[in-house]
Amino acid sequence: MKIGIQQMSKFMIVIFGGSGDLTKRKLIPALFTLFKKGTLENDFFILGVGRTSYTDATYRSYIEKEMETYIKKDPADASITKEFLAHLFYLSMDPAAKELYGGLATHIDTLTGEKETNNILYYLATPPSLYGLIPLYLQSVHLNREGTRIIIEKPFGSNLAECVALNKTYASVFHENQIYRIDHYLGKETVQDILAFRFANSIFEPIWNRNYIDYVEITAVENIGIELRGAFYDSVGALRDMVQNHLIQLVALAAMEPPAIFDAHYFRDEIVKVYASLVPLQEEDFNEHIIRGQYTASKDAKGYREEQHVDPESRTETFIAMKLAINNWRWQGVPFFIRTGKQMPTKVSEIVIHFKQTPHSLFNCGPHKCQTANTLIIRIQPNEGIIFKIGVKEPGSNFTIKQVDMDFSYNQIKETPITDAYSKLIEDCIHGNPTLFTRSDAVEASWCFFNPIVNYWEKHPDSPLHGYPAGTWGPLESELLVVDHDAKWTNPCKNLTDSDKYCEL
Ligand SMILES: NC(=O)c1ccc[n+]([C@@H]2O[C@H](COP(=O)([O-])OP(=O)(O)OC[C@H]3O[C@@H](n4cnc5c(N)ncnc54)[C@H](OP(=O)(O)O)[C@@H]3O)[C@@H](O)[C@H]2O)c1
Repeated sequence: MKIGIQQMSKFMIVIFGGSGDLTKRKLIPALFTLFKKGTLENDFFILGVGRTSYTDATYRSYIEKEMETYIKKDPADASITKEFLAHLFYLSMDPAAKELYGGLATHIDTLTGEKETNNILYYLATPPSLYGLIPLYLQSVHLNREGTRIIIEKPFGSNLAECVALNKTYASVFHENQIYRIDHYLGKETVQDILAFRFANSIFEPIWNRNYIDYVEITAVENIGIELRGAFYDSVGALRDMVQNHLIQLVALAAMEPPAIFDAHYFRDEIVKVYASLVPLQEEDFNEHIIRGQYTASKDAKGYREEQHVDPESRTETFIAMKLAINNWRWQGVPFFIRTGKQMPTKVSEIVIHFKQTPHSLFNCGPHKCQTANTLIIRIQPNEGIIFKIGVKEPGSNFTIKQVDMDFSYNQIKETPITDAYSKLIEDCIHGNPTLFTRSDAVEASWCFFNPIVNYWEKHPDSPLHGYPAGTWGPLESELLVVDHDAKWTNPCKNLTDSDKYCEL
């Protein structure tokens, strides 16, 4: 059963953490987009909840100011902004104080002028320590009514036990179809395009398997450090921040079987099957199959340990490269190499499918090592698009093969600008469509795979952690990870031979 917005009734969005960073940077711009689009119509209320003291008026002024920073300027928006702000309200309350939830229920009734509406969407944008409490406190005053929905930000637990406990709590308060575990990666147009590309083009499906694909590479890296998020990041690290959620979802989309029907149930079944097929890593393989790195100072940037609010002896990883194997008919023997990192030379997220070489090489490739295998790059950000690398004959008397790009950029579809991930996902939730949200069994299946790794690192804090100078492609060891398969990361490390710059920490 779908639970969606009831158009006839008043609609309330309650944001716990309404005074926070996520709210101003992502949620308000997304809700503004939905307002402009008409998804949010006249009778809706956005209620920010937090301990910071605001009145409705001062909250509106604060949000108006932040909108100037976080929303692209458009002179036509001025009057719409005023209209939008009139839908904003604020309640000063500590979301960790159970006794204050009666007041929240009364406030919702007063604002809507309705008794016990169930047309409510809760958004949990607080520190994760509150994710297990808020649903119970909502339940204590019957704010978990049939028909309400709740969006929970990542991380949904920081290990398997916490994730299972959270799932139990939520299942005791809401039905699964009311629960929307958000990972904004899945809201990105280009991430969804992986599905369209695979399942709307018949030519790729016959070759999308171990017979034609040599290896798959998935990269999501950034060229900035942790900025002001030191306290948060130092307790989390790259595996929990990026790999256990974003990267593994990209693996699932690249590897999944076509669902029988494109709906929430069948689509999410296929995701869970991929997670269940990941070959668990054994402890003795950890150091060989997982490369952890931490950025060190370079001439332009501080090292991680010098960042604000970071332990000067921190062993938190800011880089991970991993080799994964998927134990099923389609992917037997095809490695999936994934990596993420901070302070890399550029910001890029992409999936690279490396097809096998032709069985017999007929032509020359010039003076360099022959690179005739086809490569398909699905670029998620920036310059969203698809690049297919093919070999062509170089003009001239010789038969020399050169690789060229056939490329498609999303900018070419000018008439439909790319929708922002948060507005897409919040709209889906409003319409009661959970397809692109993570189901309880998926988040547990993902943790089942990663939990032994985080446990091992906790038990063995001296596990190898390799330094890499800020602005490089990560530790040298990550190159060695792929070399056994005769593979190569698509962005080669600039300083690969500069061994002085790499050190064991
Ligand atoms: N920021 C992002 O870009 C981003 C991206 C993906 C996921 N997330 C997730 O979204 C959630 C919110 O992120 P955020 O960056 O907005 O966090 P944040 O700014 O640290 O916290 C959000 C709000 O929660 C309230 N809060 C903080 N500590 C609290 C406590 N101990 N008890 C009760 N309330 C507390 C604060 O408001 P008051 O002090 O007014 O109560 C704060 O404004 C986090 O779980 C984060 O992991 C964030």
